[in-house]
Amino acid sequence: MDKLIINGTKVLNGEVKVSRAKNAYLPILAALLLSDQKIELEDVPNLRDIRTMWQLLKNLGVKTEVNGNITTVDASNITSQEATYELVKTMRASIFVLGPLLSRFKRAKVSLPGGCAIGTRPIDLHLKNLEKMGAKIVMQNGYVEATCDQLIGTKLVLDFPSVGATENLLMAGVFAKGETIIDNAALEPEIDDLANFLISMGVPVSGIGTKTLKVTGVTSVKATKYRAIGDRIEAGTYLMAALMTKGEVKVTGFNPNHLSNVSEKLREMGAEITELENGIIAKYIGELKAVDVSTEPFPGFPTDLQAQMMAVMTQATGTSVMTENIFENRFMHVPELVRLGAKIKLKGNSAIVKGATPLTGAPVMCTDLRASAALVLAALASTGTTDVLRVYHLDRGYEQLDQKLMALGGRIERAVEKEMI
Ligand code: UD1
Repeated sequence: MDKLIINGTKVLNGEVKVSRAKNAYLPILAALLLSDQKIELEDVPNLRDIRTMWQLLKNLGVKTEVNGNITTVDASNITSQEATYELVKTMRASIFVLGPLLSRFKRAKVSLPGGCAIGTRPIDLHLKNLEKMGAKIVMQNGYVEATCDQLIGTKLVLDFPSVGATENLLMAGVFAKGETIIDNAALEPEIDDLANFLISMGVPVSGIGTKTLKVTGVTSVKATKYRAIGDRIEAGTYLMAALMTKGEVKVTGFNPNHLSNVSEKLREMGAEITELENGIIAKYIGELKAVDVSTEPFPGFPTDLQAQMMAVMTQATGTSVMTENIFENRFMHVPELVRLGAKIKLKGNSAIVKGATPLTGAPVMCTDLRASAALVLAALASTGTTDVLRVYHLDRGYEQLDQKLMALGGRIERAVEKEMI
């Protein structure tokens, strides 16, 4: 297992380009199962979650060939419709294969993902709405087994705008008979990206960017070449790293409109934020001020930047309140930030952060992907040395985070974590 050894208080300066979005490519990779035609994908990031999804697809019979930054995919000969526990347990997003497999092959068997560090994360909205489309669903031996003669397009209304459910149902609609309408759909940019990918395959999808998505079922799809959007969460993490270290960083390779709410909050804190055509510059121009932030579905403040923003709050003068509205248990980073000197108290689904507090290096432990990023940010602003342990969580979703931060001036070393027992 790797760890990061970070020597803090070095001001970060310079330019960094984000990778293509993990959360856009995960559903797009699942959507490959809908096609018997050649598909070329550009710049798929080399991340642990993405490698897990490739492995899952390979187990089902998908063939891939990588040439430079292009991955050519052949899903014409699918030999299995079963996603086993061994892979699903390591990545919840495996559930994305349910919709496309059922739509194309009328059968799918996927291990139930179970809970994870940030909450119970049920999949009831996925299943309930697939049933409305005519699927028969049986839960047995830890697996969801879905079958149908043919999925039938119908009007679905989500009780909550779940990102994953919207994506799964959108894919299910591809070979359904007639029109599938998803009302109260999630608005996250990664959903627009999946819809655009489906359109590039010749599937009519409308209502992109609105709460009502419509997909018209087809009987065949065409070959396509596609590149997913830039990673807005990775981008937000670097913007916050710049402010934590009192520096100036230009982050490129993504659409700044995807981070409007985050930019607004960072400006409210006193940072200078400049939006460019394909990125954002964050500049520290003086004392950061406390702010209140609530996580909300897009276009609200993303839950995936909550932990990192809390790290910034520790360096802002005054009392900030961070309220988490999406996941019930997403404050695992709090005790670790406290180990570095942060003053944070939890009250229900809010964290009250008193700043600015000097942070001092200590060993800390990663608990989930975004919590890990928050610890790296805090370490960059700490005096002394911080050992960030269990960075495999970080490697699930950030491509070369340590190298990219080092290129901005961060002092980071990757080493093997020794097991004590
Ligand atoms: C996706 C993102 C994740 C992000 C989250 C919220 C991917 C691979 N992951 O996760 O990084 O943090 O969106 O922006 O894109 N829920 C139910 N029943 C369901 C589905 C969801 O109760 O059937 C609940 C969840 O437990 C959670 C909330 O809805 O409390 C949001 O979940 P959802 O939007 O589905 O997130 P994911 O798709 O899992």
